Amino acid sequence: MDLKERGSFSSKFGVIAAAAGSAVGLGNIWRFPYVAGENGGGAFLLIYLLFIVAIGIPVMLSEFTIGRNAQRNAFGSFKKLAPNSKWSFVGLMGIVAAFLILAFYSTIAGWTLEYIVKAVQDGFSAGNTSEIFTTFSTSTFKPLLWQFVFMGLTAWIVFAGVQKGIERYTKILMPLLLVLILVIVVRSLTLDGASKGLKFLFAPDFSKITFGVVLEALGQAAFSLSIGMGALITYGSYIRKNNNLGKTAVQVASADTLIAILAGVMIFPAVFAFDPSLATEGPGLVFVVLPKLFLSMPGGYVFSILFFVLLAVAALTSTVSVLEVVVAYFSEELNMSRGKATIISSLAIWLFGILATLSFSDLSDVTIFGSTFFDIMNYSSANILLPLGALLIVAFLGWVIKKKLVHDELSNSGELKVKYFKVFYFIIRYLAPVAIAIVFVHDIYKVSVKDNSDDKSQNTEIVESKEAVEVVE
Ligand code: PHE
Repeated sequence: MDLKERGSFSSKFGVIAAAAGSAVGLGNIWRFPYVAGENGGGAFLLIYLLFIVAIGIPVMLSEFTIGRNAQRNAFGSFKKLAPNSKWSFVGLMGIVAAFLILAFYSTIAGWTLEYIVKAVQDGFSAGNTSEIFTTFSTSTFKPLLWQFVFMGLTAWIVFAGVQKGIERYTKILMPLLLVLILVIVVRSLTLDGASKGLKFLFAPDFSKITFGVVLEALGQAAFSLSIGMGALITYGSYIRKNNNLGKTAVQVASADTLIAILAGVMIFPAVFAFDPSLATEGPGLVFVVLPKLFLSMPGGYVFSILFFVLLAVAALTSTVSVLEVVVAYFSEELNMSRGKATIISSLAIWLFGILATLSFSDLSDVTIFGSTFFDIMNYSSANILLPLGALLIVAFLGWVIKKKLVHDELSNSGELKVKYFKVFYFIIRYLAPVAIAIVFVHDIYKVSVKDNSDDKSQNTEIVESKEAVEVVE
């Protein structure tokens, strides 16, 4: 593709909005609270934050650097920067990750659409939010329909192209989401018993830290920041040459982390006020707890509609960035038209995604090592493919690419001072690859020594975390 033809973000805020739009999504508001809940709360949060700062931001910056320098999609970037090498494999891995993520993500994104309708219809006034959730998620037709609708919306925006499609929506709606979350946080904090939720989220209980928890924290950090699969390499290729990449990465990661923490502050006080055993509820957490919270809020009817609309939009700006990885690859590497690439890839992902959606209903009994298709897609993409991709991306920039090129890209060819360069370079060469490798090796070891009594051990884990909740009480 001719370089001049590539779209680019039109303003600095546009870049931040689009990258933050990718980062902020269901990962922050749906996934973070339930994973934190299942992994003991405070201690998980602490490790998560450590990973964001020490690994997440440097990986994000590495992706921007690679993408903007190469001006290509994720796969093409590796091919251009290291011709005749095997590195473009990392780009391919990213495309596989994109498939997996979008397949299960669109299930949950579809749920948000159903919840908009439910909010409008009667504002969950029956009050039995657990039942409402279970009845819906275990049905066959509606979740599939919403998943289809959501993939259609994603495809439509991706088709419209980078500037018009992505930038326009995120610029206004992301700040609005933040304001709304703040309002809901205030209500949650003023519930009776709210402080127990805060304690659960912020007081680390170090006895809860296991390597499993560490891996979940690493996976959640990667997933939430959209790193490790080339989404930000692709977006990096649309960033203009005069943008400050370091500053952009820090701003995007800060916004993402702030929203995840606020989501925690929104959910956990409510969880502990309503029913502490909900902390380990799993993927249904926000769908069960928030409607209850809205019912207890003045103006809750309006807030619930607004909230689910904005959640769907936040999900949409993330799915767009995932689909863009696949579409940019198909259209630039396989010479397909953008339209054809969009239709083929989104249809394929939707078909594959049916397995994820039906994991809550007709296929809930179909398990591999005790996990449903949904669990496998969710776990393997976030906790395996993304961290592995992140490791390879930093190793590529740190060991394969010339140091001068990295410095030139970060300093906009000498125009900006990059005081952080030494620290950054140390992290991408040594700290990040070694840290990720340690977490991995330990986990592979753990899996290999574990016998097949997987179900049993999973149950004990849940029992343990339920106990954790009681202890905090
Ligand atoms: N970061 C997004 C979220 O938190 C999900 C995502 C993962 C997007 C990986 C792109 C790549 O919802």
